[in-house]
Amino acid sequence: MNLAVFSAKPYDREFLSKANAALASTEGGQQHTITFHDFALSEETVSLAHGADAVCGFVNDVLSEPVLRALRDGGVRAVLLRCAGYNNIDLAAAESLGLFVANVPSYSPEAVAEFALALIQTLNRKTHRAYNRVREGNFNLDGLMGRTLHGKTVGVVGTGKIGIAFARIARGFGCRLLAYDPFPGEAFRQFGDYVSLEELLAQSDFVSLHCPLTEGTTHIINVRTLGLMKEGAMLVNTSRGGLVHTESVIAALKSRHLGGLALDVYEAEGGLFYHDHSAEIIQDDELMRLMTFPNVLVCGHQAFFTEEALTEISECTIRNLGDFSNRIPCKNSLVKYGPVAAGPELIRQELVRRDSLPVRI
Ligand SMILES: NC(=O)c1ccc[n+]([C@@H]2O[C@H](COP(=O)([O-])OP(=O)(O)OC[C@H]3O[C@@H](n4cnc5c(N)ncnc54)[C@H](O)[C@@H]3O)[C@@H](O)[C@H]2O)c1
Repeated sequence: MNLAVFSAKPYDREFLSKANAALASTEGGQQHTITFHDFALSEETVSLAHGADAVCGFVNDVLSEPVLRALRDGGVRAVLLRCAGYNNIDLAAAESLGLFVANVPSYSPEAVAEFALALIQTLNRKTHRAYNRVREGNFNLDGLMGRTLHGKTVGVVGTGKIGIAFARIARGFGCRLLAYDPFPGEAFRQFGDYVSLEELLAQSDFVSLHCPLTEGTTHIINVRTLGLMKEGAMLVNTSRGGLVHTESVIAALKSRHLGGLALDVYEAEGGLFYHDHSAEIIQDDELMRLMTFPNVLVCGHQAFFTEEALTEISECTIRNLGDFSNRIPCKNSLVKYGPVAAGPELIRQELVRRDSLPVRI
């Protein structure tokens, strides 16, 4: 198959090429021909996919109805997301256009969970500030006081694979755990209790978001829900930027109601993240304002970024493509696609979707 990979970074080339090359040693395995594009997929760039059988996109590639239609008209039959979230694709349009779509639902959930905990501890113990001070020979501790995590209440919003991995780590720190999820699962009950979102926000010293971005979760953190949070509590978002209403968190930080904010994802990250803008004037005033707070940490969507996760992502993406080309039911299918039946994962994902439709772009 001819696969066109968009938003390809050097590490994508390395890991996808390695996973593709490994096919040569499998029985009957045939390698695919991969073309890498370092720019994102969008209405402007979609013509570059013409001639490909499949495209592979990442979190900030645009997979709206017009893009999907152009892909289909150009001969593309499959869309492979090399990420877990699928908020950036119009699944209904893909299905009606007869496109196969698959994602990588699980890749080292611990990679993201560990990063979320690392953000909490950086923000809480102020190691980001200590690092800079010490490099300048300033060993003064004023302003660096944190809080012992042991015994604190941590709220987990979304107890899927990452939420559970996060709960396991937080439990190891001796935290009391609360969770909110419209689909409560048994796995969390060994770590803590399910409560309503309102109760979670009112009781938690740290809140970590691990739910997908859907119509129902867009701006789940807003003026109202921030107001419900405990005074001085800290918020961590390693999930999707659209979960947080940026203007409202800025106001909550200014009033000191919100004690700290760590973001690995940002609502308007598309076009900014994954690129070097250090010599430019960044036009996003809200992001720039956020970065002026001493108690705000912003990272460029890197929670997934470990060797283990990249290996799993690449191998799974190549497996999904293999399932598609060999017309084997794909367990990571996100659509009901012609001869390729939906996998068991879809049934669970549809339950989530039924409750709250994915965001259309
Ligand atoms: N920063 C990164 O690098 C990175 C990497 C991977 C995934 N992610 C994000 O993490 C999210 C979670 O990943 P996962 O693998 O744990 O997904 P998952 O599908 O295993 O779990 C998501 C959970 O959220 C729950 N949920 C749905 N609606 C909710 C709501 N309104 N409130 C609370 N919970 C709700 C679901 O029931 C499910 O249990 C993904 O959707 C993705 O956006 C980020």
